[in-house]
Amino acid sequence: MLLDVHDIEVFYGKIAALKGISLQVDEGEIVALIGANGAGKTTTLKTISGLRPLTAGKILFEGSDISRMPGHKRVVAGIGHAPEGRGIFPGMTVQENLLMGSYARKGRQADSELDEVYELFPRLAERKSQFGGTMSGGEQQMLAIGRALMAKPKVLLLDEPSMGLAPILVAQIFSIITEINRRGTTVLLVEQNATQALQLADRAYVLETGTVVKTAAARDLLTDPQVQAAYLGGDLDTAAVAESSGEGEPTA
Ligand SMILES: Nc1ncnc2c1ncn2[C@@H]1O[C@H](COP(=O)(O)OP(=O)(O)OP(=O)(O)O)[C@@H](O)[C@H]1O
Ligand SMILES: [Mg+2]
Repeated sequence: MLLDVHDIEVFYGKIAALKGISLQVDEGEIVALIGANGAGKTTTLKTISGLRPLTAGKILFEGSDISRMPGHKRVVAGIGHAPEGRGIFPGMTVQENLLMGSYARKGRQADSELDEVYELFPRLAERKSQFGGTMSGGEQQMLAIGRALMAKPKVLLLDEPSMGLAPILVAQIFSIITEINRRGTTVLLVEQNATQALQLADRAYVLETGTVVKTAAARDLLTDPQVQAAYLGGDLDTAAVAESSGEGEPTA
């Protein structure tokens, strides 16, 4: 197991945001975290990457307890995080932003990482010298993911990569996530866009007010009536679900 989050509790002041969350991610998987606003998805990712301290429980990465390891060391250990709201540097160029992602590995050549990011995101390659702050929303999202990839993470934590994007860009981001995973990076994906996240993921966890209320294979959650009612909304694309859960499978 690559990542083992065990019964973690996280507080903001006196308010418990995570009330004993456990989740596991195996090497090579895409695991989705879904849940309503305020359920604790972002907090879970921040705690894994070391941006928030935990008050109980522990986080094991490749079998070692990293619960108290500072965030920059977790980057070196192989945990990459593209945070919610993107957090790019607006006054730096695209390339400078990307190089900031390899900062934790200073002293190493970043050329091959840059090449790989530019290959995944040709749009960034075209705009190397443009300031981050003048990139469009979708381009900034690509930049945030690209920057996280610069440190060659073993697991990539993605917080709402499709947020605010037009449908065509949403599709593009999801296909790039698939490609990143195909190239060997494990992915833990937080998404409001639950239908698409579940179509992409191997497994998923459903969070409600700081606890995991359900976990299953993603394709099973797509057809779970409770999950459909609560998270997949009225816009559920049943054809896509049938396609995603039925391909190559004998029907019962
Ligand atoms: N900096 C903060 N200070 C105080 N409370 C916070 C802070 N950040 C988050 N919270 C609270 O912690 C809880 C979990 O928030 P979190 O951002 O993890 O939710 P989320 O599942 O990512 O929601 P969303 O889908 O809206 O992004 C919420 O009740 C939120 O109000
Ligand atoms: Mg969030």
